[in-house]
Amino acid sequence: MSTKRRLLRWSEIRPLIGSTPRKGNRLERRLQRAFTIGDLRAQARRRVPRAVFDYTDGAADDELSLRRARAAYASVTFHPHVLRPVAEVDTGTTIAGRPSTMPLVLAPTGFTRMMHHAGERAVAAAAARAGLPYAVSTLGTTPIEDVVAVARRPEDVWFQLYVWRDRARSEEMLSRVRAAGVDVLVVTVDVPVAGRRLRDHRNGLTMPPSLTARTLLQMARYPSWWFNVLTTEPLTFASFDQRAQSLTEIINGTFDPSVTAADLDWLRQQWPGRIFVKGVQRVDDAIDLARAGVDGIVLSNHGGRQLDRAEPPLQLLPQVVDALDDSVEVMVDTGVQSGADVAAALALGARAVFAGRAYLYGLMAGGEHGVDRALQILQSEFLRTMQLLGAGSVEDLHPDMITLAGSH
Ligand code: GLV
Repeated sequence: MSTKRRLLRWSEIRPLIGSTPRKGNRLERRLQRAFTIGDLRAQARRRVPRAVFDYTDGAADDELSLRRARAAYASVTFHPHVLRPVAEVDTGTTIAGRPSTMPLVLAPTGFTRMMHHAGERAVAAAAARAGLPYAVSTLGTTPIEDVVAVARRPEDVWFQLYVWRDRARSEEMLSRVRAAGVDVLVVTVDVPVAGRRLRDHRNGLTMPPSLTARTLLQMARYPSWWFNVLTTEPLTFASFDQRAQSLTEIINGTFDPSVTAADLDWLRQQWPGRIFVKGVQRVDDAIDLARAGVDGIVLSNHGGRQLDRAEPPLQLLPQVVDALDDSVEVMVDTGVQSGADVAAALALGARAVFAGRAYLYGLMAGGEHGVDRALQILQSEFLRTMQLLGAGSVEDLHPDMITLAGSH
């Protein structure tokens, strides 16, 4: 049977073309074309020198910890409820006693002004707009006072601590952070020594990046990144002075590998606010920390950047939640790339998740707007996943909605 055709009229075609008005400037339009964190990662890769991208994207040794952490999220099977009222869904929750628009914390990340010259200020502004807490790193590149000044609710700025060899300096830093108005201290405990980040070694990355023949060559390929780095405030750590050296030298030379659980008492005396411990990877350690009176535990293997072949935090989560009572907030970090990952962690009992790379890809892709875009993506994915799961609030996210490959 032959198909009968008719002549097309211009008036019929016209509404089909150019029907989406060009909104926003070029940067905003480019960011709008990113629909996932993976899309932002692809944009980021084209916009910053390789050593910077690799520092953010990479992990330790064979990067198995990171891959396995992500595989654990990919292995999730959801079991949604249907016929639940999900026209109005509340994604909000309480983290560290403060309301948050979703169960997400912007994780502490080192050397953030290297990814984009606006650095921590951009992240803090976007986090504040999104109504989410942001933990600034000891290895941050913006003074804590400045970050707090940018945040809409200063209490939503947290501080991540590495304990220094020089305790007096730790004490000084803690009083400064406290005076800035910070309440939540996140103590990272999975860095007794630096993990071996092979990409950084191979790229010869120093902090700040030094002007070697190779970096000078790269300037031609990433002129705006270099121009911004060289014409804004010098790229240094905010909490200490240091010459250009590798992250391994910085960590191993500055932070104390002899910290033990006994030091929590010392920390308690220094810090009247909440103390969360990040980098916990075993149930018995979580129980010991809960007994020691910490306020929160972050299950994490440092985004796979420390010990390789570590257990995926998502897999450990149900056992830790079972072992602890509700007085300790259990959070999970490492490998979170989507709002569906957040929903999975919540269903398995997490109070909230931490994500670092996810917003850093946005930062590298487009500064503050890029972080906005990353948070929009995560928020809309989380909302949609809740609706498709039949969950009207975060309390409705329940273990019976999920199976993890390898469990049951
Ligand atoms: C710093 O903590 C890093 O993981 O690079």
